[in-house]
Amino acid sequence: MSMTVRRLTRAATAGLVAAAALTAAAHSAEAADTLGSAAAGQGRYFGTAVAANHLGEADYAATLDREFSSVTPENEMKWDATEPSRGTFSFGSADRIVDHAQSQGMDVRGHTLVWHSQLPSWVGSLGASDLRTAMNDHINGLMGHYKGEIHSWDVVNEAFQDGGSGARRSSPFQDKLGNGFIEEAFRTARAADPAAKLCYNDYNTDGVNAKSNAVYDMVKDFKSRGVPIDCVGFQSHFNSNSPVPSDYRQNLQRFADLGVDVQITELDIEGSGSAQAADYTKVVEACLAVSRCTGMTVWGVTDKYSWRSSGTPLLFDGNYSEKPAYDAVLSALGGSGDPGDPGDPGDGTPSCTATYTRTADWSSGYNGQVTITAGGEPISSWTATVTLPAQQSVSALWNGTPAWSGNVMTVRPSWNGTLAAGASTGFGFTVAKNGSDAAPAIGTCTAS
Ligand code: G3I
Repeated sequence: MSMTVRRLTRAATAGLVAAAALTAAAHSAEAADTLGSAAAGQGRYFGTAVAANHLGEADYAATLDREFSSVTPENEMKWDATEPSRGTFSFGSADRIVDHAQSQGMDVRGHTLVWHSQLPSWVGSLGASDLRTAMNDHINGLMGHYKGEIHSWDVVNEAFQDGGSGARRSSPFQDKLGNGFIEEAFRTARAADPAAKLCYNDYNTDGVNAKSNAVYDMVKDFKSRGVPIDCVGFQSHFNSNSPVPSDYRQNLQRFADLGVDVQITELDIEGSGSAQAADYTKVVEACLAVSRCTGMTVWGVTDKYSWRSSGTPLLFDGNYSEKPAYDAVLSALGGSGDPGDPGDPGDGTPSCTATYTRTADWSSGYNGQVTITAGGEPISSWTATVTLPAQQSVSALWNGTPAWSGNVMTVRPSWNGTLAAGASTGFGFTVAKNGSDAAPAIGTCTAS
């Protein structure tokens, strides 16, 4: 099908799509017992990467349709799949995913327009002037085809080097067009589909480090010069070599403070059991603590099709059974699962979540408030940790009892340990900034 015809066809179906979305939203409101509906209750989407060739598998499609409110094509929108030879676009597999998502009222994240990997060889052989034209043609071709149908596009993916340098990664775009290729891609993307959120997406940028600092500087520069950027994606591929950073939330917050949304775009955490579940809880709590963290996407439905399948990094096992990590995510999102599942109502296990907000701010200090919410069981006590940036110090604390180890403050109840299932309390504190405006990191809440 030619691009022009397909574009018209997609636009003509928009009315049906809107109707499907309304049906799905009405369904979600009935019970927060799935990832998508629980996340919707928090004003977020909960998505997954999807591969077109698994959509025909009944259990895969049933799990996808039941649990998720957003999809990201795992490979089908990449350059090698969509423009294998210059000017010849092929959208078959990507269309299958977008059509499926729309039939279920799910949003679609576009992944990805300009990336050094999965790039057909013809792109690498172009000279600078031709490459610039080809890059812009590719953006216009893809975004034009899906105009109005993609909630966020990863416009540029993984343009920075790993390691301590904070330098740009070598790629045909970087090497031939120079630093300006990212800005040019975003400007072209804005014109191609003004309704889409435009994201920069990368990995190993999840905590504060040289690479995330370099991305931060770029986003700050873009915002100051009016280069159109709306969001930053944090891939969040974690394992024992690359654990969930303790300053994850703080890092998300500092990007949000630049005036962009943040999204967790490719989440997976290798491991199993309660340790994996606890790490997933940390990630969800971090996103929920940042008001501009608009949603989370896990990088696949089931362990068996994960790009890291031997590390079993996802929420459903190879038989599509919910793992403890699933229960932990659902619970952290405020949802409720089947009685008897760990962390669910009726399982007899006390649990809690801790969320942080800055409630007052002045030049030399700020007030923070941590809200403690019991899970599906009543609790008689809770413990939360607050890790402060090195320069900062706490000058007052109320409604809690602190104990200090270095810059980590462990807070237990003063009078407010007993909570009914789902009930909340909290503690507050005053911080002297001593030159650092960074936010504290809140650890996982534990309850008894
Ligand atoms: O489709 C072909 C198949 O025809 C062929 O027989 C087979 C032989 O190897 O390869 C198949 O293609 C594979 C493709 O996944 C689809 O399964 C590629 O070899 C394989 O390289 C490709 O891997 C993808 C990887 O990106 C490539 O860079 C993973 O599925 C995908 O999960 C992964 O996703 C990336 C994000 O896009 C960006 N961030 C990191 C993330 C994880 O690496």
